[in-house]
Amino acid sequence: MQLIIQENYEKASLWAAEYIAGKINSAKNKPFVLGLPTGSSPIGIYQKLINMRQKEKLSFKNVRTFNMDEYVGLPASHPQSYHYFMMDNLFNHVDIDPKHIHILNGMAENLEKECEQYEEAITKEGGIDLFLGGMGRNGHVAFNEPGSSFSSRTRVKTLAEETKVANSRFFDGDSSKVPTLALTVGVGTVMNAREVLIIVNGRHKARALRAVIEDGVNHMWTLSCLQMHPNAIIVCDEDATEELKVETVRYFKDIEKNKAKF
Ligand code: GLP
Repeated sequence: MQLIIQENYEKASLWAAEYIAGKINSAKNKPFVLGLPTGSSPIGIYQKLINMRQKEKLSFKNVRTFNMDEYVGLPASHPQSYHYFMMDNLFNHVDIDPKHIHILNGMAENLEKECEQYEEAITKEGGIDLFLGGMGRNGHVAFNEPGSSFSSRTRVKTLAEETKVANSRFFDGDSSKVPTLALTVGVGTVMNAREVLIIVNGRHKARALRAVIEDGVNHMWTLSCLQMHPNAIIVCDEDATEELKVETVRYFKDIEKNKAKF
């Protein structure tokens, strides 16, 4: 696992956006399958990708997307649904073909079937080339709350109280308004991606980042699964490293410095 430490959120977002754009561009006209998150963490990346599109340095014509998760019970028109978020923050501003956008339907009559079909759709597209993600304060990836199985696939999940409180900022500060259930790709689904890129920013994520990087692989911090992934990158800002050992930070910075030499 690589840890890329950038001075601030702006630079971390730029690093990640350039990385993603490089991958999309190098796929040329071949389909590129991109996993995508919601939340505040990826907004900077999305803005930069939109900017690259506007300058014609990037096209989404060959991109197929699969979003990580969606609340159960919120229609796509609800401003806090992840459908709405994605249209508003990315898809309405780039040249992606709408039929290449995949987002779990939290209003589906049969939620289990919806999840099964989502996994099938990913397989049909040849698997995910690059899964971009964020991390919850409790170390979750997508909505894989502490205790999720590392072999889990797309399914219905009950949100942890900590997540509901964290996400209540989008629901008038009232955690009882946050849906209790969500559909989410599994830890196993993320682990199957050929590459995983996670953006982490802010002091409020420092405790989880320490657990994910310095502690062992642990299903109570589900993003620690990345320690087992052959091709995973976490890009973070300095604030998020606050709980890491000085030695850890120095080591990962040294790796980046040395890369420039070979
Ligand atoms: C949410 C989402 C995750 C996201 C995380 C962090 O609950 N399900 O996909 O990565 O929490 O959100 P934020 O980026 O707003 O801190």
